Amino acid sequence: MHAVAKRIEAGWRLRTAFLLSLTLAANAAWPADRMEAALTVTQEAAGPRIEPAIYGHFVEHLGTGVYGGLWVGPESSIPNTRGFRNDVVAALRRLKVPVLRWPGGCFADDYDWRDGIGAPAQRPVRLNKVWGNVPDNNRVGTHEFMDLAEQLGAEVYLAGNMGSMPPRAMSQWLEYLTSDSADSTLANERRRNGRDQPWKVKYFGVGNESWGCGGSMRAEYAADLHRQYATFLRGPTLKVASGDGEGRDEVTETMMARARDQMDALSLHYYTVPGPWEHKGLATGFDAQRWALTLKTALGVEARISATEAIMDRHDPARRVALFVDEWGLWHDPEPGSNGAFLHQQNTLRDATVAALSLNIFHRHTARVKMANIAQMVNVLQAMVLTDGPLMLLTPTYHLFDMYQPFQGATPLKLTLQTPRYRQGGIELPAVDVSGARGADGVTTLALVNLDPDRWARVLTNLAEPVQGRVLTAAAMDAHNSFAQARTLVPAPYAAQPVNGRLSLELPPKSIVVVRTLSSNLVNPSR
Ligand code: AHR
Repeated sequence: MHAVAKRIEAGWRLRTAFLLSLTLAANAAWPADRMEAALTVTQEAAGPRIEPAIYGHFVEHLGTGVYGGLWVGPESSIPNTRGFRNDVVAALRRLKVPVLRWPGGCFADDYDWRDGIGAPAQRPVRLNKVWGNVPDNNRVGTHEFMDLAEQLGAEVYLAGNMGSMPPRAMSQWLEYLTSDSADSTLANERRRNGRDQPWKVKYFGVGNESWGCGGSMRAEYAADLHRQYATFLRGPTLKVASGDGEGRDEVTETMMARARDQMDALSLHYYTVPGPWEHKGLATGFDAQRWALTLKTALGVEARISATEAIMDRHDPARRVALFVDEWGLWHDPEPGSNGAFLHQQNTLRDATVAALSLNIFHRHTARVKMANIAQMVNVLQAMVLTDGPLMLLTPTYHLFDMYQPFQGATPLKLTLQTPRYRQGGIELPAVDVSGARGADGVTTLALVNLDPDRWARVLTNLAEPVQGRVLTAAAMDAHNSFAQARTLVPAPYAAQPVNGRLSLELPPKSIVVVRTLSSNLVNPSR
């Protein structure tokens, strides 16, 4: 690491980072190998607003994602509200979770909703055949999940079983949840189980990964089956069809050609797998080559979205059908010593950088992308929160989502960025990535990512006003939080002042900077 960066790192640990850009702007010791980028911000909308649901989450009955992570049970000594742990719920509430998808994933197509209602002691114990064959006592079922969503203030997105249950089971689940009829046997069963008022179910997924764990179907068969199941899902719930997750355009093509009239959204899954499936590597302890490969792979979601959009545009030029990237995130090898089927992984500055790049891409595709759900919320894959018994930590990805909150509901702005290149081995990427949006309050938010792990970047903007915000960075590429040191990597304050009427933003190596300005005072918007 560069000596200057080391000094700065130490400074951040002392919480003095707010002086960073001011100091460096006038600092003769500025690193010689810094990069120069140029950013022009306009106040022109680049697309429809960034739906808050793009900041959606996903929780599956998988490993300790539900049991242990979110749920400890009402009898637990860990403080909880009706079984859900208070520390985790409070942390997630701070993120303003807009929507939560449940119960899978692959689990959804092996799940019978009736197993999860009624007296807890009488609920059957099923083996979770998808994720390690471990027993699931169904203690968290429909009522508990809906309670969690209410505690979080989130809309719900249920994934129904199209792979191994008849359409009648799916439609009856929806009736059980949403009917206000005094005569419906299902609604009355719900009332007897403790919920008088119907719930609102905004989104309903018709199966999951139909081409794989959801039933190993041909796309043609999946499209027909989607039509059949969706026919019986009556009511205002938005229906989501299972789409591509393997980079196969024919899945999108077939679903749109044959079933578009029976869906409100089509899903897309995109995982960043940093290497061959058998050698993804651990979340920590990787080298610069793996860093670059990871970021390159993450950026690949833009090509997948563009290809999917092109197909959808042909079949649905009015853009009635939305694209939901309802599973995305980094997939590493499981932590040594953990159950491999539990998909438990650490979470580092690399994960936060991938999250920033992915969200910036979603911001560029708001005409079609209306929801995205990071996989997964707690203890599984690229999680927000990790728990160990009574302990909890917030991951770098959590902090990144926190920093990006102003983008929820904001309007993306047209920007022009001239960026140097970041080269590592045979990989070449833009060194800087940026997203900008204006909120309903008129405040402009900019998010800038320096992908280069070694070099500073100075981004000269056309803004003439001071900005304030936060920076997430560290000396090590795999900086992370542990239960012993839960605040190793947290955002630090960041501020920058214009010099000679022009604002430059100094980006440390491998950093994400999010700043806000009240002003639209540009030096020369047409520059
Ligand atoms: O998120 C883990 C799994 O990844 C999901 O269950 C499945 O839909 C995908 O393959």
